[in-house]
Amino acid sequence: MNHSETIADRLRHAPVVPLIQADDPNVAVRTARALVAGGLTVIEVVLRTPAAVKCLKAIAGSVPDAIVGAGTVLSEEQAEAVLLAGAQFIVSPGLYSPVVRVAQSAELPVFPGVATASEAQTAWNLGLRSVKFFPASLAGGVPMLKALGSVFGGMSFMPTGGISAANLADYLAVPSVLACGGSWLTPKAAIAEGNYDTVSQLATEAVAIAKTVRG
Ligand code: 3PG
Repeated sequence: MNHSETIADRLRHAPVVPLIQADDPNVAVRTARALVAGGLTVIEVVLRTPAAVKCLKAIAGSVPDAIVGAGTVLSEEQAEAVLLAGAQFIVSPGLYSPVVRVAQSAELPVFPGVATASEAQTAWNLGLRSVKFFPASLAGGVPMLKALGSVFGGMSFMPTGGISAANLADYLAVPSVLACGGSWLTPKAAIAEGNYDTVSQLATEAVAIAKTVRG
């Protein structure tokens, strides 16, 4: 399968990537199912808990409608571990070429984080045309994205960090934005209470906001 094409197709319809941070694979799977029910099928499991790789593997194995990737991938070793667990894409907070190379060797989409023109240029020279923009709200938000987009023609950005339903439309209005990422779709308190309907509702709301901006 050409992962990039499939992910790009899905993001064209629903340009939002929810983050899952979970301690328990069952919770991760239920959260992923709730997101898919709400219309968001490209899901990032962040490697910020000891069970994160197990959570990723569980989603990859039991939520066939989801395209699940790994986020917060900091090292080459972590990149190799998430490949084995079934990650279909890799996201990093920063740009670290060994992680990029692991993904490229496996022909997997990789979205390293950039926050400056120099980092975007380095990513461009590594052959990347889609990157994460992180931390979006602190690194200059929409005006910075517009500035980067005007210089790096053909490059698309996935802003993440400080995005919510309140500012999602502003980010999606920028043509170089591939999709927005964020944790606002998976609130810890609701998930701790087993309130997965809230997760589905937040996903549905995000899809509706995206439709108003992108049709
Ligand atoms: C990330 O991993 O991309 C960020 O931590 C997400 O930021 P948010 O919690 O503000 O959405």
